[in-house]
Amino acid sequence: MTDPVPAQRAPYNVTVKAGRKYFWCACGLSKRQPFCDGSHSGTGISPMQWEATATEEVWFCGCKRTAGAPFCDGSHERA
Ligand code: FES
Ligand code: FES
Repeated sequence: MTDPVPAQRAPYNVTVKAGRKYFWCACGLSKRQPFCDGSHSGTGISPMQWEATATEEVWFCGCKRTAGAPFCDGSHERA
């Protein structure tokens, strides 16, 4: 298993829609950040599925070091 790489050292602000499923890129290689585009193939890392319960603005982790995936928990400050 390869370590994730930071896509950016800051979160991605996204307005999610209630009831929609999202696949957060956990590996950092996707070109469609913060979501998975299949680039994790061969890394041993899988995307995290998350379903929005409300239509709202959220902050997805971009550094891939969060302890509260798929969301930013401030860990990028120490990355
Ligand atoms: Fe990163 Fe799929 S491209 S988890
Ligand atoms: Fe990863 Fe903030 S962007 S913890």
